[in-house]
Amino acid sequence: MSKKVIAFAASSSRRSINKQLVTHACELLRGECEIEILDLNDYELPLFSVDREDELGQPALARDFLRKISDSDGIIIAFAEHNGCYSAAYKNLYDWVSRIQPRVYQDKPMVLLSTSPGGRGGKSVMELALAQMPRFGGEVRASLSVPSFQDNFDSETGVISNAEIAAQVETAVNSLFAK
Ligand SMILES: Cc1cc2nc3c(=O)[nH]c(=O)nc-3n(C[C@H](O)[C@H](O)[C@H](O)COP(=O)(O)O)c2cc1C
Repeated sequence: MSKKVIAFAASSSRRSINKQLVTHACELLRGECEIEILDLNDYELPLFSVDREDELGQPALARDFLRKISDSDGIIIAFAEHNGCYSAAYKNLYDWVSRIQPRVYQDKPMVLLSTSPGGRGGKSVMELALAQMPRFGGEVRASLSVPSFQDNFDSETGVISNAEIAAQVETAVNSLFAK
């Protein structure tokens, strides 16, 4: 049976460049794996606070997101960088989900990507994610920050136009289930 991969951009932007990147990464696995690309907008929850938690308990959307993770064999995430950190949309969902299951990623293998319009390609949020994943149960197999997205990605074809970066993304994605 083919492996199930879930993927998402840690962004709620309708024109997310990280969504474009993660979609391209998934295309590289199509035919080999069963792929589901999630959209954080489908998991929008009120701004987390312990008071809201007292009112709402464990929201169904947070439980649904956790179930997507537990039903998967591997995960690909592309992180948007906002002020050197996660986007508020990702952090908020994460806060809700972590109250149900602190090891959110449940020891699944994962590939982490990030991109931004600038030359660092979201390196700060990547450093944050890499530092935190062991605590959150993420088994990181590869990570890659793609710089200057608009210069290196052809949005019409959905493909990376820079050959060197394209090869790096392919290597990263192929590490997901590599022994
Ligand atoms: C509130 C805000 C803060 C941002 N901070 C950073 C930053 O710290 N570093 C960076 O490289 N880009 C930053 N950006 C630019 C984002 O990289 C850019 O908006 C990118 O498109 C976000 O990814 P997304 O399109 O996948 O949402 C910021 C953008 C916003 C809206």
